[in-house]
Formats: sequence, C-alpha cells, structure tokens
Amino acid sequence: MGGRLAGKSAIVTGAGSGIGRAIALRFATEGAEVLAADISDSVRETAAQSNAITPILCDVSDQEHVQRLEEEARKRFGGLDVLANNAGIGGLSGVPLHEYPIEAFDRAHAVNVRGAFMVLQSGIRLMLDSGGGTVVNTASTAGFRATPGSSGYVIAKGGVVMMTRQAGYEYADKGIRVNAVAPGTIQTPILDGISDELMEELQSRSPEKRLGRPEEVASLALFLASDESSHIIGQCYLIDGGRTAG
Ligand SMILES: NC(=O)c1ccc[n+]([C@@H]2O[C@H](COP(=O)([O-])OP(=O)(O)OC[C@H]3O[C@@H](n4cnc5c(N)ncnc54)[C@H](O)[C@@H]3O)[C@@H](O)[C@H]2O)c1
Repeated sequence: MGGRLAGKSAIVTGAGSGIGRAIALRFATEGAEVLAADISDSVRETAAQSNAITPILCDVSDQEHVQRLEEEARKRFGGLDVLANNAGIGGLSGVPLHEYPIEAFDRAHAVNVRGAFMVLQSGIRLMLDSGGGTVVNTASTAGFRATPGSSGYVIAKGGVVMMTRQAGYEYADKGIRVNAVAPGTIQTPILDGISDELMEELQSRSPEKRLGRPEEVASLALFLASDESSHIIGQCYLIDGGRTAG
C-alpha cells in the first residue's frame, strides 16, 4: 500500500475521539499500521473504521498501562516509527488561579504532562530499538499564551512545549525527530466542559470566526510525522486559524 507513511508503524494516544481519532485514521489512510490507544472504549469505534488500526485500552497517566502499550508495540512492530502523543484532558475553566483546586491542577498534569512524558519515554525507547522515528506531541496555543481561568491546563501545555524542545534536541543525533502540533480551538468533545463565556471568547478571537476541525490538525501531524519534515526538530507548530497572528 502506498502513502506518506507506507510501511510505518505508529502509536496514537487519545485515539478514541477528536484529534487523536482523526490522526489515527489519517495515518492509516497513508499506509501506517496503527496501534490506537485510549482510556475509553470509544477507541474500538476508531479501529472499526480501518483494518490498519488496532485498539488498545490504555490510561496514559498509569505507568503500568504505558508499559503494556510499549510491550504491545514491541511485540507487534519490533520497535516504532511514529508516535502521536496526543491524549489529553481539558481541565477546569473559569476558575481564577488563586482559587484553582490543587487536585484539578494535579489531574491536568498527571495526564497532559506526566502521562505524555511516560508515553514519550516509551516511544523513544522503541525508536532507539528501530533506529529512528518521529514523534508528534499535541501541545496547544494555551502552551504559549495565558487563558484566564484555565491555569491547570495552560501550565501543563507549557510543559508539553518544553518537553518537545527537550526531546527534539536530545535525540536529534539518534535519528528521532520530536515536534508538536499546537492547536487553537478545535471542534471536539474536549470543549464540552468549558464555560459559555470562554467559548464565546475563543470564537470571537478567531479572525476566521470558526473553530478548527480535527482533520486539519491531522494534516499537520501527518506532515510532522512524515519524511517531508526531515529538517524540522523540536518545534511546536501553531494551527489556530490565525488567532495568535493578531
Ligand atoms: N480541541 C481543542 O480545542 C484542543 C486545542 C488544543 C489542544 N488540544 C489537545 O488535543 C488533544 C486531543 O484533544 P481533543 O480535542 O481531541 O479531545 P477529545 O476529548 O475529543 O479526545 C481526547 C481523547 O483522549 C482520551 N484520554 C483522556 N484521558 C486519557 C488518559 N488518561 N489516557 C488515555 N487516553 C485519554 C479521551 O478518552 C479522548 O478519547 C489533547 O491533548 C488536547 O489537550 C485540543
């Protein structure tokens, strides 16, 4: 089968919904064999859409689960070519920083930073075995700009930005390229919990006056995962319909 990821093996986390599902489907369409991981059973629906996608239940905040994911990839692929390190949660919105519950701060970090870090470690171990590969983390424009009321998420995504630079720099000489997509506001279920006030603000900030689509983020992830981005390392690409341009 041809395609921009022909013959490649891939792991996509958070593949049961939204951006992760779109990335898993796009990678599969482009010829990759995809291990689609998610804490939710909905990952089976993703896998039902392509013979090239195998679902696996995995909570990225649980070290044993991440170890099992790594073992499954090693068994199946003998290593790894592509990791889309995408699973994440939105966290609270509309809560001033000085009142932000520390439990919510911890949870946002447990999944979005610590979980992403453990998955990144596994992906890099697998890629060292197979002699190189590409990682695409999912950061956010929130990792670059403040969003009042969302400090847990914003600070966690800032961590993903630096995780991308750190790993990109550290593994460039091993043939492993680490980059990130940094979406603005994309129409996915993650937005279900945010306040009407914040939603209005997000939409009004966009010069296009529309939210992004998961498939648009998947196109950027595909570029960063493929050999077409061969000289791009440790970078976070904003994809936000122009929101941060102004
Ligand atoms: N939608 C947006 O506006 C937006 C903007 C910027 C960044 N992002 C980021 O994109 C990524 C995907 O978000 P989305 O918008 O597609 O949301 P989504 O809620 O549609 O999908 C997230 C998926 O991650 C899974 N998940 C959550 N916790 C997990 C865990 N502990 N282990 C494994 N899987 C877990 C969920 O079950 C879900 O299937 C997240 O990292 C999010 O922070 C989203």
